[in-house]
Amino acid sequence: MKSEIIFESGDHKWIVLGRDTSKKDEVIDTNEYIIVSNGEAMLLDPGGIEIFPSVLAEITKYVSIEQIKVIFASHQDPDISSSLAMWLDLAKHIKIYCPWLWTGFISHFGMGTDFILNPIPDEGLELKIGDKGSTVFLVPAHFCHSPGNFSVYDPKANILFSGDIGAALIPNDAPLYVDDFASHIKYMEKFHLRWMPSVGSLRQWVRRVRNINPNIIAPQHGSIFVGENVHKFLDWLDNLEVGKWEMGAEASDINKAVWMKWKK
Ligand SMILES: [Fe+2]
Ligand SMILES: [Fe+2]
Repeated sequence: MKSEIIFESGDHKWIVLGRDTSKKDEVIDTNEYIIVSNGEAMLLDPGGIEIFPSVLAEITKYVSIEQIKVIFASHQDPDISSSLAMWLDLAKHIKIYCPWLWTGFISHFGMGTDFILNPIPDEGLELKIGDKGSTVFLVPAHFCHSPGNFSVYDPKANILFSGDIGAALIPNDAPLYVDDFASHIKYMEKFHLRWMPSVGSLRQWVRRVRNINPNIIAPQHGSIFVGENVHKFLDWLDNLEVGKWEMGAEASDINKAVWMKWKK
């Protein structure tokens, strides 16, 4: 697993982890982010059980477990939340925040631990990183793609963590930062057309993010958008007609075959 500092100013920094070549091929690659602020850390979308040992080993190059005060889970998917109980098992002091809509579902990943989840209300939350760290904002991103979903905005770094919005299935040697937006589209398009169910919700999120005007948009999969590419990305989303997926002929045939079998 690789890691890199993507922002640093005084006692405030962002680190991205990802491009894990040791993971199994069938496990989707994810980016994990850590914000370290005044010696206290917040972990954003910590990843699944499969990659927990690699994430833990890489994170401890930057912070100790004691320094991690908050873990944020943007939504319920296993590539984000299935490791949560393992983190709590390791350090009971960590406060985990996840959408209220998913607390009962994510609790299925509890694995017998004392699994306390702090619910994020639909309208979002202002969240302080530990006692000494700065404040970040949990920004509503519902139905993009999950019906209960949040982005994270850090005003101090002017970075927005966008979760699955902007997710791209890229080759392992793709650059950390998007360099040519036009050629990056092919890695994002299919993902967004299949996973994003609502044009209205996506347009709302883009409006919200334009108002915030971050310098960096950091997704949970794929390369990071900086500067001009942030605007190109938001413009691209604004013109994307999601939620219109129809099952292709091949899938219909399979479905028909299964249905005929059930009918017998
Ligand atoms: Fe997801
Ligand atoms: Fe994801």
